[in-house]
Amino acid sequence: MNKKFLNLGLQPLANKYLTKKEKLSNFKEDFYRLEVCFNTKNKLVSLYKKINVKKMFNNNYPYKSSLSLTMLKSFKELSTMIKKKFKPKLFLEIGSNDGALVQNFNKNKVICVEPCSNLAKITKKKGYLTFDKYWNFKLAKKIKSKFKTVNIVYSANTLTHIENLNDVFKSITHILSKNGVLIIEDPSLLECLKKISYDQFYNEHIYLFSAIAVKNIINKFKLEIFDIQVLDTHGGSLRYFIKRTSNKSILINKSVKKQIKKEINFGLNNFSTYKKFAQKVKKSRNKLNNILKKVKKNKNIIIGYGATAKATTILNYCGIDNDTIDFFLDTTPGKVNKFMPGKNIKILPYNKKIIDRTNYMFLGAWNFKKEIFIKESKFISNGGKFITHVPIPKII
Ligand code: TMP
Repeated sequence: MNKKFLNLGLQPLANKYLTKKEKLSNFKEDFYRLEVCFNTKNKLVSLYKKINVKKMFNNNYPYKSSLSLTMLKSFKELSTMIKKKFKPKLFLEIGSNDGALVQNFNKNKVICVEPCSNLAKITKKKGYLTFDKYWNFKLAKKIKSKFKTVNIVYSANTLTHIENLNDVFKSITHILSKNGVLIIEDPSLLECLKKISYDQFYNEHIYLFSAIAVKNIINKFKLEIFDIQVLDTHGGSLRYFIKRTSNKSILINKSVKKQIKKEINFGLNNFSTYKKFAQKVKKSRNKLNNILKKVKKNKNIIIGYGATAKATTILNYCGIDNDTIDFFLDTTPGKVNKFMPGKNIKILPYNKKIIDRTNYMFLGAWNFKKEIFIKESKFISNGGKFITHVPIPKII
């Protein structure tokens, strides 16, 4: 049974940045009610209302993994480990984006699956076999008929975006070799609850996984987690290493029990934990609004740093518009000169000169805080302040 615990109000589609033309023509944005629920049976946290995939992942998807140094570094390290440990003969990536990971592998050992054709075009151009399709059983059958089996299936920040998880895992087990390994990584529910980072919830993040829920879901496909790595990426993620239960050649690492124990101790099995979280989210909103109001009272300009999908949830839940955050700066070409979804806040291209003249920046891309604080060390040493809402709203 799905029990609702969090209502983040009416929200627009998070990665739908409106152009000036759309704004001027009074383009009607799609709004939906963003509510989050907990499944008392399998302990999976998900959005109550799911949005049609075709509205979200199309030929105009703005997010590119390669634009982030943090992600490039994480993918490089991962690919070295995969090559060393698993020696993949054939590697399949579900949600290959612009190839930030596969570029570390030999072209003839890789299959990319990416439904956003603007991104699929990039890996195709680089010479990687790419299916610009949604991951489903039909595609798995097609791939199997050509390649028989795949011995590593990898997917980062993608499976949580696909509504039909049964079809996802059925399709994966269809093509995974007997001793094959499935590696998935996604934001961690435990980290989200600890950091009160409720902006992990937006239309594309249909699910927020815990190790407990992943274990419950994959069980019926005769799959089991044999290792878990805790990552800093995307505000705190987990990387799950999964094998067939019939494969006894791989031992179960103690990291699995350790993570599950941490999650149980935090209360992820209990609905009451989620109700408490919802209360903390309300407090977080009030506190952030108070901070912004105070800063604005002194006629300061506030720049949004990183026009993230997460920031869309914050702006629309907290009711923040261009009378508070003057504009955003972002490095992604597909976002610049557009507007934050649901709001009148313009996104300008990243510009150091603008930052030099500013005192306050709201950290939209808080998940890249480390990278950003190094990049903006001059702003910080000149007395510039960042405003963040994670883990509690404050001025840094
Ligand atoms: P994400 O949180 O969905 O990964 O998106 C990160 C966004 O932040 C992306 O649009 C790029 C932007 N960004 C900057 O503008 N400057 C930076 O230094 C970093 C790290 C990210």
